[in-house]
Amino acid sequence: MSKSVLIIGGSSQIAQAIAKQSHDQGARVSIISRQPAPSTSAYIWQQDALQSEDSCQHSVEEALQQLPDTVFICNGVLHDAAAMPEKTIRQLNSEQLAQRLHTNVIIPAQYLRALFRYLTRTPQVKVLVLSAKVGSITDNQLGGWYSYRMSKAALNMLVKNFSLEVRRLNPSACIVSVHPGTTDTPLSEPFQSNLPQGQLQTAEQTAQRLLKVRDELTLEVSGSLLNWDGSILPF
Ligand SMILES: NC(=O)c1ccc[n+]([C@@H]2O[C@H](COP(=O)([O-])OP(=O)(O)OC[C@H]3O[C@@H](n4cnc5c(N)ncnc54)[C@H](OP(=O)(O)O)[C@@H]3O)[C@@H](O)[C@H]2O)c1
Repeated sequence: MSKSVLIIGGSSQIAQAIAKQSHDQGARVSIISRQPAPSTSAYIWQQDALQSEDSCQHSVEEALQQLPDTVFICNGVLHDAAAMPEKTIRQLNSEQLAQRLHTNVIIPAQYLRALFRYLTRTPQVKVLVLSAKVGSITDNQLGGWYSYRMSKAALNMLVKNFSLEVRRLNPSACIVSVHPGTTDTPLSEPFQSNLPQGQLQTAEQTAQRLLKVRDELTLEVSGSLLNWDGSILPF
């Protein structure tokens, strides 16, 4: 169980479900998001609308006053109003690729850098970065979704690299990337019709699974890409 949880990318539906369940379990919940706090929010909320290097540092410093023992980073974009994921290389567009790399890799990297000092000094601290199984190069049998796959593969390398650097200074820290499983959110909404029966989880079910993964993390898996059930996925 956690006493204090920091959730970055807190407007994500999975993030909101993690926040609610953590709060219900008695943890202090801090959120960092580009979105403003809802007027009814029960959480400590830092709005980071700019997500510049400076604003990330500032938001993190404010949030760290709550001494989190767990950090979730939930930022991630598969599609938006401008573009759906590519079915073929012929649809690859440099601007779209750059945007996906920005949201899916650069934003998490900025926040991890801002967290670095704290993570090297906090015993047993845990960081879970939401990634995706489609970012596994070994697991890729289908192709397509170039920008999202490439950005999540890069995110997995970021997390692996970062975990090694933190471990040298704080061997008790555990930092992983996690595939949350296909979850009913705006991100998966256009792709839900062809899913096998039973594969789609609610955000609440996914949050429950991710909090169980958090509770059962061991130091041996630090740096790994984990599935929603805590098993290790190949890079
Ligand atoms: N849903 C699924 O089936 C599924 C499957 C595999 C992996 N995932 C991963 O799980 C994570 C959460 O997904 P979700 O389904 O909960 O998504 P969601 O509800 O669509 O939430 C989107 C998230 O991305 C952030 N975001 C959106 N646009 C951004 C931008 N321009 N710059 C920075 N951040 C931006 C939002 O942060 P703000 O709070 O700052 O707005 C929010 O955290 C993502 O990393 C996603 O790739 C989801």
